[in-house]
Amino acid sequence: MKRSSYSLFAAMLVAAALIKAGHPLARDLATVDLTQWSPPDLAAVGDDPFGKLVKYGHALMTNTANEIGPTVADPQKRFSGNNLACQNCHLQAGTQPYAMPLTGIWGQFPQYRGREGGVATLEDRINGCMQRSMNGRPLPLESPEMKAFTAYMRWLSTGIPTGASLIGAGTLRLKEPTRAADPSRGAAVYANVCGVWN
Ligand code: HEC
Repeated sequence: MKRSSYSLFAAMLVAAALIKAGHPLARDLATVDLTQWSPPDLAAVGDDPFGKLVKYGHALMTNTANEIGPTVADPQKRFSGNNLACQNCHLQAGTQPYAMPLTGIWGQFPQYRGREGGVATLEDRINGCMQRSMNGRPLPLESPEMKAFTAYMRWLSTGIPTGASLIGAGTLRLKEPTRAADPSRGAAVYANVCGVWN
């Protein structure tokens, strides 16, 4: 073994020991700041079978009602029950930090969840939104639509390590006011911020 190979080997042993010991360095390596992260480019996705599914998944995220909702001609394909798109909540096709992004989600599941008191898969979570947020019915696991959603989320997570801790995941917390809640001020905020889209 050459001298440089020895030092490389020694460095690998140190890194392995750090990771095993749960050293902060090992944890830092697995932190990804989504506010500084560029999601992959959809225009670069090919027309191979995986690429086709990724593009279908993007269409499902952004144009949900017309793809699998009330406006689809084939009643069998009407899985979602309202006119929302997934990206009405998971903004920018699931890429916007602090708007419940789906970037990096692939490596976060299966996951123990206290609310359900058990381990949920990514498919469970997608179907949770299909039933509650979309007021619809669950997608069969073998359906092209479920495969497209998961393929899209896997592609969106390209380069993010499994189990990474993600800055920018979920939403920011609103600060609770120190005074009593005031419905009339809430009505004004709703009209100015939320109601502008109506
Ligand atoms: C009305 C808003 C809304 C819509 C529309 C919506 N979601 Fe969600 N979604 C949420 C909320 C809120 C959460 C987090 C819920 C929780 O904490 O349990 C979530 C969580 C998720 C998660 C888990 C994310 C994580 O970080 O664990 C996935 C995956 C997901 N949604 C996929 C979808 C898909 C796919 C669609 C479209 C079919 C969709 N969602 C539509 C609000 C929405």
